[in-house]
Amino acid sequence: MITFIEKDKLFTLETKNTTYQIKIDKYGKLLHLYYGAKVKGNMSYLLDYADRGFSGNIYEAKEKRNYSYDYLPQEMSSIGVGDFRTPGIVIKNQDGSISSDFRFEKFKIKKGKYSLDGLPASYAQSNEADTLEITTIDKELGLELKLFYGIFYEKDIITRATQIINFGNNKVEVLKADSANLDFLNGNFEMLTFHGRHAFERQLQRQAVKHGIYQIGSSRGTSSHQYNPLIFLIESDTNEKRGNCYGFELEWSGSFHGIVEKSQYNQTRVSIGAMSETFDYKLGKSEILTMPEVMLSFSSNGIGQVSRNFHDIIRENICRLPKEKMKVTRPILVNSWEAAYFDISGEKLLELADSAKELGIEMLVMDDGWFGQRNDDNQGLGDWYVNEKKLGMTLADLSKKIKERDMKFGIWIEPEMVNENSIFYRKHPDYVLKIPSKAPICGRNQLVLDFSRKEVVDEIFTDICKVLDQGNVDYIKWDCNRSLTDIFSNDTYIQENGQTEYKYVLGVYDFLERLRKRYPNILIEGCSGGGGRFDAGMLYYTPQIWCSDNTDAIDRLQIQYGTSFGYPLSAIGSHVSVSPNEQCKRETTIETRGTVAMAGTFGYEMNVGKLNTEEKLKVRQQIKEYKDVEPLILQGDYYRLSNIYDDTLKNNSQRDGFSAWEVVSKDKKNVLLSVVVTEIHGNMIPNYIFLDGLDPNATYADEKTGEKYNGATLMHAGFLLPTEYGQYNSYMYKFTVIE
Ligand code: GLA
Repeated sequence: MITFIEKDKLFTLETKNTTYQIKIDKYGKLLHLYYGAKVKGNMSYLLDYADRGFSGNIYEAKEKRNYSYDYLPQEMSSIGVGDFRTPGIVIKNQDGSISSDFRFEKFKIKKGKYSLDGLPASYAQSNEADTLEITTIDKELGLELKLFYGIFYEKDIITRATQIINFGNNKVEVLKADSANLDFLNGNFEMLTFHGRHAFERQLQRQAVKHGIYQIGSSRGTSSHQYNPLIFLIESDTNEKRGNCYGFELEWSGSFHGIVEKSQYNQTRVSIGAMSETFDYKLGKSEILTMPEVMLSFSSNGIGQVSRNFHDIIRENICRLPKEKMKVTRPILVNSWEAAYFDISGEKLLELADSAKELGIEMLVMDDGWFGQRNDDNQGLGDWYVNEKKLGMTLADLSKKIKERDMKFGIWIEPEMVNENSIFYRKHPDYVLKIPSKAPICGRNQLVLDFSRKEVVDEIFTDICKVLDQGNVDYIKWDCNRSLTDIFSNDTYIQENGQTEYKYVLGVYDFLERLRKRYPNILIEGCSGGGGRFDAGMLYYTPQIWCSDNTDAIDRLQIQYGTSFGYPLSAIGSHVSVSPNEQCKRETTIETRGTVAMAGTFGYEMNVGKLNTEEKLKVRQQIKEYKDVEPLILQGDYYRLSNIYDDTLKNNSQRDGFSAWEVVSKDKKNVLLSVVVTEIHGNMIPNYIFLDGLDPNATYADEKTGEKYNGATLMHAGFLLPTEYGQYNSYMYKFTVIE
């Protein structure tokens, strides 16, 4: 709900449980009055106008000396006008000055949700969203700054996005244009961020926001393994179930930054947006620059609720599934990567398909190694034609044979990359990102194609379509196996105007959008060396993403735990692999690997033909179990039930010796509780788990034992795990309401 009160010049944005207020003040400046739990009335009285030393006044207020951008809460701050906190907008004028001051011009309130041309953005299902579009201008610069707001009332989500339009005659340089900038007038916050590395993504960190600037981000051209574009701001007593929590999640797959700053007056500013410090986008006459959408959510019921708000909006308003039924079921797949790496052939793949089919697996995915001279990772990328000699058959044949086995067929591609040792590179050496005078940095011995150029995207798109047209493909795994460096385009206009890196990301989106349109029935899974581009921007095109190249069940507990803060299980690609694990050699049982992989879109990353008879029996059982709970996993409300670090979510509490999570159906009738015991000791202490989100008055029955429990009891008195000795035991309990 959006209201504007003319006499007070006040915008109030309301969701079910939150209020957000913006004021247009007497100078036409947009001031941010409030965001948080639902409140009423005009909050302008909160503004403190004082003469404060060294906080410069705008010219109109120079005599009274009581008005400074330096302490007034800005709706979108900019640099060069006396606000010395982290700016949201940084613009360099043609004369070299770096200063911009945007004042209110007009606004529109519309039913429905805005979209962003060429960029991902949440969309409304029916009448669930409203849009506020505020236009501000800087007359001297000849620039319009548009602020977009999308209100998803029931979902407690407010989205924001920013657009700059040059209506003047001069070219300006946009050095920064954040998607959201938010000032909190008071409060002592702590922040949660998610850092990591290749094969160990999204590790939770909690830290106090003291005076200073805390920054996360990526300058890798992708959202990265190292930091996820996701920040939570909480209070010191906030935990999973209680306390105030704000979440900020960016829908962008390139470089980004997220900043939290505590100012001299104990105010806190959050600023989050695309691109890094090298951004210098020259915006010419009549040009438009659109910066990505960020989702904001608040709950006074703890971090878990904000996560669930993100899960709901991502599932229902960001992911676009090829088929309606994929909301409740996705194909269980076996992927050839850890089964055979580059050593694939049609015959081997069919063998794998046979043994997979026997177990109940529904799709065979042919990973890397099927094209060009791709016999290892030093060559062949860019040559998107089927190596029929290596496969021993055509793609059409392979696909047909797989379909004859009543299985689906998927294929791996990495469109953005090229090896120097490839026909494509020899034909188009000028198609890569490379600084002419320098030898480029290589990553996995590959170079990055210049996707900022349409002709490059076009050519790769044509080549890949030729393959897909032969193959009757049901699924694509879209990979991206290095960070961007040497960002230089041979398109002079793009390069000279500093647009290469930004337009690269738009080129990726464009490719994916074209792919979706041409092959509406294909399910696309994102991937970037595992989870190196795990963001809500990608999820707009690829509704599931391979979570990590690390398939070790115990490492995955931590990786998937961190991922769950911002992303629903329906987006998290998660597979059972061999034991000892390929990445860390740890041994775990097939049950435990299954329990962990079932917290996501399920599959196998191994040669299932090599399992022994007993394991095969268990896998068959596992697949049945997954199919049974799949609608719950893909659609239910997710709860983290354990504290897997020493000092994070339960204050003054020790780490739990187990990892537990729970999915509850929206009607609260079906519950899946999953647990992996991570610490084992002699004479163990008993482990109690406190369930969440149940109907307190309902009676739940444990499907296996028939044991009955009251909902409130399971939540408040807890559930006792059996004391069993052994390494990494795991448990799955299904509870159903019986009365
Ligand atoms: C990346 C992916 C893997 C696999 C390989 C193939 O590392 O994350 O799953 O597809 O590339 O080269």
